[in-house]
Amino acid sequence: MTTTPNKLTIIQPDDWHLHLRDGTTLSTVLPFTAAHYGRAIVMPNLTPPVTTTAEAIAYRERIIAAVPVDSDFEPLMTCYLTDHTDPNEVEKGFLEGVFTAVKLYPARATTNSDFGVTAWDNIRDVLARMEKIGMPLLVHGEEADPDIDIFDREGAFIDRVLSDWMTHDYPELKIVLEHITTKDGADFVREAGSNIGATVTPHHLVINRNDILTGGIRPHLYCLPIAKRETHRQALRQAVASGDPSFFLGTDSAPHSIGAKETDCGCAGIFNVPNAIEVYARVFEEMDALEHFEAFASFNGPNFYGLDANTGTLTLERVQQTIIGDIEIPGANDSIRPFLSGESLNWSVVGL
Ligand code: NCD
Ligand code: ZN
Repeated sequence: MTTTPNKLTIIQPDDWHLHLRDGTTLSTVLPFTAAHYGRAIVMPNLTPPVTTTAEAIAYRERIIAAVPVDSDFEPLMTCYLTDHTDPNEVEKGFLEGVFTAVKLYPARATTNSDFGVTAWDNIRDVLARMEKIGMPLLVHGEEADPDIDIFDREGAFIDRVLSDWMTHDYPELKIVLEHITTKDGADFVREAGSNIGATVTPHHLVINRNDILTGGIRPHLYCLPIAKRETHRQALRQAVASGDPSFFLGTDSAPHSIGAKETDCGCAGIFNVPNAIEVYARVFEEMDALEHFEAFASFNGPNFYGLDANTGTLTLERVQQTIIGDIEIPGANDSIRPFLSGESLNWSVVGL
């Protein structure tokens, strides 16, 4: 990384957790990712979800068709794990380079997770095969048991699943604890072996639960896992600022139309991609840890996945910007509101 007080040039980053959706939403949101990131791990929670190599190939083609002509963006596809996933299908997809990873959603934990896993015994054969072939498992780490308080679901998942049996029974399995939101998550990953990593979103580094709920309810700050109390946000900021290579960039950018968020039962998800890299830069600067920014954004993820880092660079300058307003979804008579829309940022991307 080359830095001056007013300029940061880093190897081009990747986004290790991204929702791109499909159809006009896909073509609306993808250019924002392609403008900054070399690759992204694309979440499979479409309706219906992406569960086979054939579906992943077809979805990858739709994504590539929507990539702007001046971009080399590469989508990395994931397989949605269900109670019926066939280990042979997973292995075939991995060996053929179609699937980069498998995504585990506990059933009903989050948006479009109805096809997720209902009983852990149903996935043991798949996990054993993935451990054997070195294929990463990406985990939405929230217990979906309705008796568990929503703010305790990540901690409960760590206790009941990750610590209790998964890391014990499959000690070599590569696991990414996605979008961590708690000190428990950060501690678990820090203390685990190098086969366990975590993605951290920009929003969980910036907002706490007060931001969602004080002075009025803010649907555009609602996502899952929900932001926790301030001590947890501080723990996440310290985790990324420590330079520990287990933590890497994953925006969990999850666009929903304004209509679907500002309603009686609004969807979970924050669309943060237009400004995510600038928000991360601000956080590292506030933590006096800019020397670790590039590894978090551009090296720790590829190292975990056993891939080369990108070769191009991305440059940010200390240029004030106002975050863009609502982005229209063509033909939908609706729009998507970016995270922190209308607020001001001290860094701007000036070039790839
Ligand atoms: C995601 C979505 O909308 O697909 N929502 C979210 O709040 N993050 C699903 C997910 O990643 O949990
Ligand atoms: Zn997600």
